[in-house]
Amino acid sequence: MIKISIGSDHAGFELKKIIEALLIKRNIEVIDFGPRDSDSVDYPDFGQMVAQSVVSKESNRGIVICGTGLGMSIVVNRFPGIRGTLCSDVLSAKMSRQHNDSNLLVLAGRMIGSTLANEIVQTWLDTPFEGGRHQRRIDKIENVHKTKQGEK
Ligand code: RB5
Repeated sequence: MIKISIGSDHAGFELKKIIEALLIKRNIEVIDFGPRDSDSVDYPDFGQMVAQSVVSKESNRGIVICGTGLGMSIVVNRFPGIRGTLCSDVLSAKMSRQHNDSNLLVLAGRMIGSTLANEIVQTWLDTPFEGGRHQRRIDKIENVHKTKQGEK
């Protein structure tokens, strides 16, 4: 059974509740890293817990939500092995799985409505990775931090 870690900040809190309900309806096990209410918090605290959970394989994938999705994107992509993709439309959600093998979806709670967010999440869950040439590119991403600056 697929397990998904989820987290947000205050700006993503309302959408997190909606997405959690969708995941549960789909019989997906959810690990909720918070927050528990809409009091102001700092997105790096929650983004890193979700990213760590995916890296350690406690869960299969993650979903994080802040106001714009930008801060969370920056945080989660600091973790080797995380391919975090900010998606605000359905086609991006589809491509992020087909070409980028996204393992962490970033949503912008203040930029998109709940209907669109639900469609994005469903698409991201249901679209398989295409592999092939895209796997080669993903392998290169994972090696970026090992490559010395200026080297090919
Ligand atoms: C919080 O006000 C806001 O800065 C945060 O949710 C996010 O949009 C940061 O990138």
